Amino acid sequence: MRISKLKWAAVWAFAFVVAFAAFGPERVAMADGHGKVMEERSKLMKGMGGAMRTLKGYLEGRGSAEEAGEAAAVIAAAAPKIPDVFPPDTGMGADPKSETKDVVWEKWDDFTAASALLADKAAALKTALASGDAGAVGAAFGDLGKNGCGGCHRVFREKRN
Ligand code: HEC
Repeated sequence: MRISKLKWAAVWAFAFVVAFAAFGPERVAMADGHGKVMEERSKLMKGMGGAMRTLKGYLEGRGSAEEAGEAAAVIAAAAPKIPDVFPPDTGMGADPKSETKDVVWEKWDDFTAASALLADKAAALKTALASGDAGAVGAAFGDLGKNGCGGCHRVFREKRN
């Protein structure tokens, strides 16, 4: 009788340790990982936002062509990284602070296509900048903002005030 009670205690203790090893640290890691993902996502997006401000300024006569070229390069480099900062279930359903619609992961192909489209628009803007044709730069910038950034935001982002 006594022995079997001890045995059960040992079984429970073992089960507890296993359960903790299996779920405990993983949960913690997930919580940490989530904050990190949100931070990286925000950094990537805000970096592109800053580049857009530089480009708008250039079109309005501020800043150098070199700075505008660097800003276009920032967007071109960031665009292919967008899918990496949207791991599954890190949208508004999982985090009320997120502005990402959960439909992103149902329409993942559309989402990655929107990232690829932005990369194309950024390449076109770089080409326009290199040509030195102000009209072409303005058109490429407008297209990038409306269809590159906006094309994805309209479908996949729900902006909070
Ligand atoms: C493929 C989709 C996609 C593309 C392309 C895209 N974005 Fe976003 N962006 C999002 C989503 C989704 C969010 C919401 C992120 C969240 O809160 O979880 C977002 C959020 C943002 C934010 C807010 C970030 C914050 O933390 O406050 C800025 C700024 C932003 N995007 C700028 C841009 C600019 C500028 C471009 C184009 C140069 C762009 N984005 C292109 C999907 C995209």
